[in-house]
Amino acid sequence: MDEKPKQTFYITTPIYYVNDVPHIGHAYTTIIADALSRYNKLAGKKVFFLTGTDEHGQKIEKSAQEKGIKPIELADKVVKRFKSLWEELDISYDYFIRTTEKRHENGVQDLFRKLKEKGDIYKGVYEGYYCVSCENFLSEDVPLEKEGHKICPDCGKEAGKVSEDCYFFRLSAYQDRLLELYEKDDPPFVRPESRLNEIRSFVKKGLKDLSITRSTVKWGISVPDDPDQSIYVWFDALNNYLTGIGYGWDKELYQTFWPPDIHLIGKDILRFHAVYWPAFLMAGDFPLPKTVYGHGWWLKDKTKMSKSRGNVLDPNIILKSFGTDALRYFLLREIPIGMDGNFSHEGFIHRCNSDLANDLGNLVQRTLIMIRKYFNAKIDTLGEEKSDDISLRKRFDVLKSRVMEHYDNYSINRALEEIWSYIGSVNKYLADSEPWSLAKDETQKKRLARILYQAACALRGISTLLYPVMPESAQKIWDLLGEEKKIEDEKLDNLKFEDYEVSREIKNPEPIFPRVDLKDFLKEEEKSDIETSKKEGEMSQISFNEFKKMDLRVAEILSAEKVEGTRKLIKLEVDIGDEKRQMVAGILETYEPEDLVGKKLVVIANLEPATIHGIESQAMLLAAMKDDGTAVIPFFTEDIPAGAKVQ
Ligand code: MSP
Repeated sequence: MDEKPKQTFYITTPIYYVNDVPHIGHAYTTIIADALSRYNKLAGKKVFFLTGTDEHGQKIEKSAQEKGIKPIELADKVVKRFKSLWEELDISYDYFIRTTEKRHENGVQDLFRKLKEKGDIYKGVYEGYYCVSCENFLSEDVPLEKEGHKICPDCGKEAGKVSEDCYFFRLSAYQDRLLELYEKDDPPFVRPESRLNEIRSFVKKGLKDLSITRSTVKWGISVPDDPDQSIYVWFDALNNYLTGIGYGWDKELYQTFWPPDIHLIGKDILRFHAVYWPAFLMAGDFPLPKTVYGHGWWLKDKTKMSKSRGNVLDPNIILKSFGTDALRYFLLREIPIGMDGNFSHEGFIHRCNSDLANDLGNLVQRTLIMIRKYFNAKIDTLGEEKSDDISLRKRFDVLKSRVMEHYDNYSINRALEEIWSYIGSVNKYLADSEPWSLAKDETQKKRLARILYQAACALRGISTLLYPVMPESAQKIWDLLGEEKKIEDEKLDNLKFEDYEVSREIKNPEPIFPRVDLKDFLKEEEKSDIETSKKEGEMSQISFNEFKKMDLRVAEILSAEKVEGTRKLIKLEVDIGDEKRQMVAGILETYEPEDLVGKKLVVIANLEPATIHGIESQAMLLAAMKDDGTAVIPFFTEDIPAGAKVQ
């Protein structure tokens, strides 16, 4: 009979916008959620893990329009990309919600109606500034720029003026209840604590009522009984946490899991989750989520990784070279969940080689190889347990309870630190007891069996505790130990050091974590950088007006140098008439840097800057691409001044 689950655990990720293809930042949140979800299952809870996509609103409408396709076509395409990445990353979500699903749309309209009937939604006129990139109404104290627009303090983009009829949500009425909510501490509503303080002081400054519909945006859920208005995308999106767990379509599911134990989000969207969302729920008389956890950002070149900044890392390249678990391990080990982390390839490769290939990988290899070699793959009669053996076993009990405490507290990096410190002790235990020397003495056979048995027990235990973070590798270690069961069917409460059974036949070990050479990896990555930018450059037909928007000019190369650590990149300084710019181009296979100085060529001067290999490229040169991927630049032979317009 199935054991009855002790408790339930409902965890969510943000639902991701479909204007952007998934990158390491999205993967990070989803991997944390997956690890916590797997851990809670292993700890005996009944778990529901929700993720999905946010498909309505002006940002998606605009993005689809720019691509010349319908918003739903864009959404369908990007959803495929998200789902396939989640599959590659072993993400075991229970439901993938799309906000364009009928049952979500019905649920949102229902909630809108409910709040309106209660008097918390009323009609008015909104006059102010709106940032499309954040889908956010700017607060009035953001200063006005000379040109009559405002700069969004969150993303730095221009926010336009809006004046429209709309419906407001009576947010101001919930200020006191929200402040009260921030006082609870078991668990705190917002974590980590620094973020709680930030939110508390925001709310203390005073809350204004929030516009929750748009009359100028068509791509959204329409307001019940007022089809000229569409529901504001954040009201729509936040409600996914209710509609994704059966609200309005599966009462039993909803009643089993609501309210959420943790909304896991990036710190960029904390205000929506820690202020607006609980206020909507209070208005609807719903029990409130237990915790909103705002994690830090992955930065590249010291700024938040995001597509618009051109500094995103495509997880696929890393997955190809290292496999899923290495990426999962790195992201969860490197930083505590609340802090920012800078993604460097050197740091990543160092961690993989040292922690995975050396510490854990070698422990697996040598333990299994010795059991196969000295005992023909099956350990026989064990010698008695001596003090070193007892200490290794007892330390495992301590490890297990500490690791569980850390996972329960969402401190995954601390859990991993503890596990690695134990791996260090097992390696030391083997080094100190020198099984390879004992093997030379037939009278020590039982002692040898005991030592290798202890190491195998430790490995079985370690891999069980690692399973939430590295499910595939952990299972592989179980399989190699001859275990026939699946870790996911186990319960941590029952896990004991001595669960490893001697009668099992050890399989021939294959390296689980390959060592990777930094130079080889960078070559791969560079190749893919260039392929991605080529793909993004593939365009459909454009109008003459669109063509005219390009600022094509003659540029003179002032200096050129190779970008160290790359095979193709040259950094150039060019004169474009009224200013100097720096650019990075993949032309090293065709040109020597010193031959380029003084040459004149065509550049696009008004292209959004991109960061290539950590260097900002502030313009792009035009070149013809040969089939082998090398570039040939058309240079001017006649005398023409730098800055001359090209049309
Ligand atoms: N659609 C909204 C969320 C609605 S939830 C009701 C949205 N989508 S998003 O596609 O922009 O995703 C934002 C989330 O992606 C962040 O909150 C974070 O979880 C993750 N990340 C995106 N870039 C990130 C980093 N560079 N680093 C870490 N996580 C980041 O906002």
